[in-house]
Amino acid sequence: MLDELSAIQSDALAAIKSVDSESSLEEFRIHYLGKKGRLTAAAAGMRDVSKEDKRAVGQKLNEVRNTITGLIDERSSELAALKDAEAVADIDPTLPSRSLPQGAGHPLSQMLNRAVDTLHHLGFAIAEGPEIETEWHCFDALNTPADHPARNEKDTFYFDSGKLLRTHTSSVQVRTMEGADAPPVRIIAPGSAFRRDEIDATHSISFTQLEGLYVDREVTLADLKGTLEYFFHSIFGADTELRFRPHFFPFTEPSFEIDIKLHAAGKASRWIEIAGCGMVDPAVFEAINSSREDDLFSPDNVSGFAFGLGIDRLAMIKHGIPDLRLFSENDLRFLRQFA
Ligand code: PHE
Repeated sequence: MLDELSAIQSDALAAIKSVDSESSLEEFRIHYLGKKGRLTAAAAGMRDVSKEDKRAVGQKLNEVRNTITGLIDERSSELAALKDAEAVADIDPTLPSRSLPQGAGHPLSQMLNRAVDTLHHLGFAIAEGPEIETEWHCFDALNTPADHPARNEKDTFYFDSGKLLRTHTSSVQVRTMEGADAPPVRIIAPGSAFRRDEIDATHSISFTQLEGLYVDREVTLADLKGTLEYFFHSIFGADTELRFRPHFFPFTEPSFEIDIKLHAAGKASRWIEIAGCGMVDPAVFEAINSSREDDLFSPDNVSGFAFGLGIDRLAMIKHGIPDLRLFSENDLRFLRQFA
């Protein structure tokens, strides 16, 4: 019996050398350890072993079984490693990796984010309002009477319902004051605005505005100027010249347009209009109070300033972009320049 076990062991040690696939390894296992395998058969012979030999034979049986199991495990992991090596044989790991295309923000988004960040530092919070607006929020509450030219069907997109695509983000001023617990209010409202225009290099039917509103006790024109000077100097550089030119908006009094001085290489420098602003007209506060049915925004107690920036315009000036349509044409040759 001991001889028989030794023979099985040395046969197995020799046979494992020619096992070169998973299937021949399985055959090997069945041949030795399977139900009808040689070792299983030998183990059945334990019955006939005499009492005094049982211990030695049992030990030898275990030893042979362990050896064979070990051989199988070892060969199995060798075969797996071989398979892995084959799978990567054609790959050259020293080649440089393929570069992944990297995205970047659209120039308008980049400018918008920058404008929002700058005003955030001054304590303005973001406010939102719908693009489909009521006439009240877009015009009436902003002291813009029914016969005002901005309300003309030629200038504004109206729906059959009487609602309209907001012509400016100033409607968010109204919504914010209507919804506020009480003054102070200090918000910016970035978003799209829409006007019926002939599309050309400087006109579009939709553009991105950023509205600002600050209402508190004793807000003055000096606060408005300081805020917007700080803003434009952060965007365009500290030595950028600004001018506040008297203008008219129905919802601010006094009102201004802000121009910045543009120095394009090889051209005479010129002033270019960049924003509208002013002190909130008392008539707007009255409209808010009538809508709120209280007098927390009474013009006797509060004052405020408002401004509206064209983000498209800011980006065009900042980057020297001559044509507004480039922003919406999705031409990668244009967009990649801002990555
Ligand atoms: N709503 C004005 C426009 O679109 C800009 C503006 C906003 C002016 C706030 C004054 C105050 O032209």
